[in-house]
Amino acid sequence: MVEEAKEKTSTESNTSSEEKKVAHPITQVQVTQQKPQVSAAVPPRAVVSPAPRPTPTVAAPATRPPPPQMVGRRNFVKALVTIAAVLSIVPFVPWGSFLSSSVGNAGSYKRQKVVIDAKSVYGAAAGQVVNVNDLNTFPPDSHWVITYPSSGDATLDAQNPDTFVKYELIRLPAGALGGDTKNASAFVAFSKVCVHLWCSPNYNPDPAHQQYECPCHGSIYEVPEGLAKYGPAAQQDAPTNAIPMLTLTADPNGDLNVEIPLWDVEHNGVLGYGRDYLSYRNYIKPAALGGS
Ligand code: FES
Repeated sequence: MVEEAKEKTSTESNTSSEEKKVAHPITQVQVTQQKPQVSAAVPPRAVVSPAPRPTPTVAAPATRPPPPQMVGRRNFVKALVTIAAVLSIVPFVPWGSFLSSSVGNAGSYKRQKVVIDAKSVYGAAAGQVVNVNDLNTFPPDSHWVITYPSSGDATLDAQNPDTFVKYELIRLPAGALGGDTKNASAFVAFSKVCVHLWCSPNYNPDPAHQQYECPCHGSIYEVPEGLAKYGPAAQQDAPTNAIPMLTLTADPNGDLNVEIPLWDVEHNGVLGYGRDYLSYRNYIKPAALGGS
């Protein structure tokens, strides 16, 4: 009996001990299983929270004022456009009607002997009164610059940079154009102000050219009438497509003179603007143009 009781007690004791061993792992499993459940609940919060962000970032640029440097760039572009617009109308404004004040008052315009500006590049012709009979000093197919109205001093005239008082004096090529004849019709005097955008053309005596050429945009005026035949000046409507010019005569001694100009488009033209070359033909008829 005693042994049965011990055995029973031992069995109960073992049973109790096994139950404890079994119960303990279960408890551990339950604990370890609960941890993933807790952590699994966190991700949904992270997914939901970024959603509202796009709304403010999209709306912001629409109401944001342009940066200062962009405003400055816009003003710069506007200034360029304005300057371009002003330059585009320059050839079409009758500047000459009031520019005469910049080249002297009305009293400055008088009959005047033609004197070559005193520049060394002109050699023997520098500072000399032009005589139509002098084919050595003033040979055909040659050109010089003169000043009208003159200060009376060819050296001072040569230092005057105002192109609105400068003229290209050309002795025409010999032959058909009559540069070897001994009268005023052998010469023409074109304004040094191009009717396009006021650059200064030059006579090109090369036999393949013999024309008045502007270096800026390629306008070319034919000689002796001064009508633009190529380049932007030739694209302009009359009378803004012909270069203004002086009227020349020779006195009994053969000295060349500038007659008092009529500054309108039907006569000598408007400086920097143009001249009606057909009207000028009727106004003055050099021999080279069929006059007497
Ligand atoms: S200024 Fe433009 S062609 Fe003379």
